[in-house]
Amino acid sequence: MKNPFIYGKIVTGESFVNRQKEKADLTKYLLDNQVIFLISSRRYGKSSLLKKVSEELKKKKAQVAYIDLFKCSSLEQFVAQYARVLASLETSVVEKAVKLIGEWVSALRPQFTIDKDGTIGLEIDAKPREQEVYQLLEKLMEKPQEYAKKHKCPVIIMIDEFQEIVRFGGEQLEKYLRAVIQGQKNVGYVFSGSKRSMLTDMVSKKSRAFYHSGPVMYLDKIGQEEWIRYIKDKFRKSKIAIDDAVVIKIIQKAQNIPYYVQSLSHKTWELTLDSRKVNEKIIEEAVESIVDESRHVYVALWEMLPSTQQRLLEGIARGAIENPLSQDFIIRHQMNSRSTVTTSLKLLEKKDILERSGKKYIFCDIWFSEWILKR
Ligand SMILES: Nc1ncnc2c1ncn2[C@@H]1O[C@H](COP(=O)(O)OP(=O)(O)O)[C@@H](O)[C@H]1O
Ligand SMILES: [Mg+2]
Repeated sequence: MKNPFIYGKIVTGESFVNRQKEKADLTKYLLDNQVIFLISSRRYGKSSLLKKVSEELKKKKAQVAYIDLFKCSSLEQFVAQYARVLASLETSVVEKAVKLIGEWVSALRPQFTIDKDGTIGLEIDAKPREQEVYQLLEKLMEKPQEYAKKHKCPVIIMIDEFQEIVRFGGEQLEKYLRAVIQGQKNVGYVFSGSKRSMLTDMVSKKSRAFYHSGPVMYLDKIGQEEWIRYIKDKFRKSKIAIDDAVVIKIIQKAQNIPYYVQSLSHKTWELTLDSRKVNEKIIEEAVESIVDESRHVYVALWEMLPSTQQRLLEGIARGAIENPLSQDFIIRHQMNSRSTVTTSLKLLEKKDILERSGKKYIFCDIWFSEWILKR
């Protein structure tokens, strides 16, 4: 029998829990041609929600283009990827799409080349000047609006991991995008991302291009009731007994973060195939097993950290004190001074080990914190 709990990839269909309100709001905003920011930490379900919303929108005869910026590593690649998804709006036939991209970029040849599969490359020795990349981008950015008008249907552009845009072209690119998008009356945009502080800065600082550009949605955790129903149902269908208290234990251990709820349920399911009954002890075993699977990564990560950062992480993992900048915390964990803590927190945030949540700091990977405690 196949494990019914899915993690690490976009979930759809039966594996997609709830998000009714988020789905309805996003669909509405997008069909209203707004520019929306969708923000949450990693693993909360943004990409899955976008996929779901995109299915809803297609039912309403909208055209949807989706780009994941984690799959691009430079401005040129972003532009190339963008050209590809836009070409696929116009035509589902590859050769036609390639021709179309060819027309779009022809002005800038010979710097840009187009492969048979529509990939845009660069001629050797002819790296286009930044200005030319921007010219091409401008042309492309106008396509959705042109398409929407021509075909009289809404066009929706989804850009996932949008914070990467700053890495490709700095705040200048941000300004540029805003300027082009601003005048488009028939296109809806959603920019989604998991670097919460970076994205929040983008929409809340007056000096930034997307300041007050439209609705900002912070994706929250999924309600406990929905999870209980979902998890119980999956276990029951596999003929494995589980009661509410044990399901709640799974949700709590996973800190109610969608990815971890699914992965812990997945492991628990695996461990109960013989006994056909879940109890609290099995959940502890499942956590241990998951942490153990990553131990090599954790050891390597830990050994690379200076001892101040290790002590700081230990303190946060124990979670006794909310604010690591408090005098009490500094003394208890031998942190020298407040500025040592500030610097270390910044470095750990940069390394994607910690993430700020209000005044609190939380682990990006909850099992790393578990490993630190059990070490
Ligand atoms: N609505 C949902 N229902 C059930 N599981 C979900 C849901 N959203 C996310 N998940 C779980 O979290 C994992 C990560 O989801 P993903 O959409 O990739 O998050 P993000 O894009 O925010 O990092 C999924 O593989 C799945 O296990
Ligand atoms: Mg994602």
